[in-house]
Amino acid sequence: MEVVILTDPAAVGVCVADAICRLFASKERVNLGLATGSSPLATYAELIRRHAEEGLSLKGMTAFMLDEYLGLPVGHPESYRTYLERSFVDLVDLPNDSLLGPDVATRRPDVACREYEEQIRAAGGIDLQLLGIGSDGHIGFNEPMSSLASRTRIKTLTEETRRDNARFFGGDVEAVPRHVITQGIGTLLEARHLVLIATGEKKAGCIQRALEGPIAAMVPATALQLHPHVTVVLDQAAAGQLALRGYHEETFRTKPDWQGL
Ligand code: F6R
Repeated sequence: MEVVILTDPAAVGVCVADAICRLFASKERVNLGLATGSSPLATYAELIRRHAEEGLSLKGMTAFMLDEYLGLPVGHPESYRTYLERSFVDLVDLPNDSLLGPDVATRRPDVACREYEEQIRAAGGIDLQLLGIGSDGHIGFNEPMSSLASRTRIKTLTEETRRDNARFFGGDVEAVPRHVITQGIGTLLEARHLVLIATGEKKAGCIQRALEGPIAAMVPATALQLHPHVTVVLDQAAAGQLALRGYHEETFRTKPDWQGL
């Protein structure tokens, strides 16, 4: 696991955008896993800027959603599909129909979960999966006590996550759906590269538990310790409780350029 500690969220966005661009330079078709929430916004903003100002093309991309709420009407402004369209995919040259996600409008979401797994597999798997982390240690919407071998399935959000996400629903916790479909931890561990982004002091505790704590279902993000290619990109505030912070800073400072993330 590589831990990169940068000055601020904007620098985090540039660093992760660099990794994505490097991937695009190395292969024609890229399967990119997209997270929502605040954490990846600076990365999306940087990719949008490079598209508008530097001619970056994302035509070769198929985008895969990490998770989605259940129970919101199609087109709801806070559905994760709408969020991703609004904050990223509609602002670059991604072809229509290239944003794939579980079908949450169906009456059989259990079937939709299996079909989404199949879609990811048929596309050849995800090259790079962006992740954020919840204050309770979730990745995707794999809440504490999720099986570390879990596949895409329906989950119930914790009260803590619904409170955290109420800011997107006008502060109203009751408006945050209780149920979601999320890629499972076992599904995520099959992506070829996992990039976890966390910024701000509020994330310092869960980042410390995820990176330096024992692997446990109570902190789902600890499962990242099992993956051979994980990059955690943090700002100073989110790295604030890491015992090995100095080591990570030294490692990144002395890293050869050609290595990438
Ligand atoms: C989003 C997702 C969640 C968020 C996490 C952090 O698709 O699956 O795991 O990444 O809740 O959210 P923010 O970035 O808003 O702090």
